[in-house]
Amino acid sequence: MRLDLSGKTALVTGSTQGIGRAIAAGLAAAGARVGVNGRSRESVDRALAELGQGDFVAAPADVSTAEGAAAALEATGPVDILVNNLGIFGAQPALEITDDDWRRYFEVNVLTAVRLTREVLPGMRERGWGRVLYIASDSAVVIPAEMIHYGMSKTALLAVSRGFAKEAAGSGVTVNSVIAGPTHTGGVEDFVYSLVDRDLPWDEAQREFMRRHRPQSLIQRLIEPEEIANLVVYLSSPLASATTGGAVRVDGGYVDAILP
Ligand SMILES: NC(=O)c1ccc[n+]([C@@H]2O[C@H](COP(=O)([O-])OP(=O)(O)OC[C@H]3O[C@@H](n4cnc5c(N)ncnc54)[C@H](OP(=O)(O)O)[C@@H]3O)[C@@H](O)[C@H]2O)c1
Repeated sequence: MRLDLSGKTALVTGSTQGIGRAIAAGLAAAGARVGVNGRSRESVDRALAELGQGDFVAAPADVSTAEGAAAALEATGPVDILVNNLGIFGAQPALEITDDDWRRYFEVNVLTAVRLTREVLPGMRERGWGRVLYIASDSAVVIPAEMIHYGMSKTALLAVSRGFAKEAAGSGVTVNSVIAGPTHTGGVEDFVYSLVDRDLPWDEAQREFMRRHRPQSLIQRLIEPEEIANLVVYLSSPLASATTGGAVRVDGGYVDAILP
């Protein structure tokens, strides 16, 4: 199967590290021009140096604001593939999540993606081709007791994705969400250490975290960011033209369901 994205331009939000950076690398390896986004010029430049060869464009901006979203789109140019990867997460006792926390999770994790979709979908429809992806999470369907606000935001993305897929019906634009499972990223290392003994070496900390907090995982390990990126690159490609309105899983079998 040859994934050819030459001639396509992508924007990956939150792509200076972790899953976003792996997605940026994967899309570029398939031939796309890729806007790399993070909040500062320094973090984007660092990511560009780490990414190395490929057709990358610096798109530094806080995309959780309307101005930042506009700046990232302006830097990238007309977008054929939008990967809404940016997402914040953190453990917080349910009854201590304040109104401001709930709003912040909605604003950053949901509204940011909605706003960017609103900006790019008309152009994609006019050109008769496009891909919009939302990086959701197992937490969208298995709501973690230690981060209900995060789960809420990821469930909302599934609805947003399905809804915009309907809006794009018949246009050549596909819209999907990706249910990513527990993944080995820098952000997750911090998260794991917020729930297990900080003195444990990483391998033991990871095993302890999976055993205590993610026992349903069928692969019994964290997923590597490249494994998420592989699915995203496929869904971004012309080969995935009949997959739309879906929630596609790369969760290590974590979600105990046959569908989706
Ligand atoms: N890691 C997991 O286990 C896991 C599992 C399921 C789903 N997911 C989802 O996958 C996505 C990526 O997760 P990750 O673990 O790879 O994240 P991460 O390592 O925490 O990275 C977050 C990225 O977002 C950027 N960022 C943060 N706030 C931003 C803003 N306002 N504007 C622009 N960029 C911003 C950061 O760059 P700067 O610091 O340079 O701004 C960084 O590149 C998220 O949506 C997450 O919910 C993750």
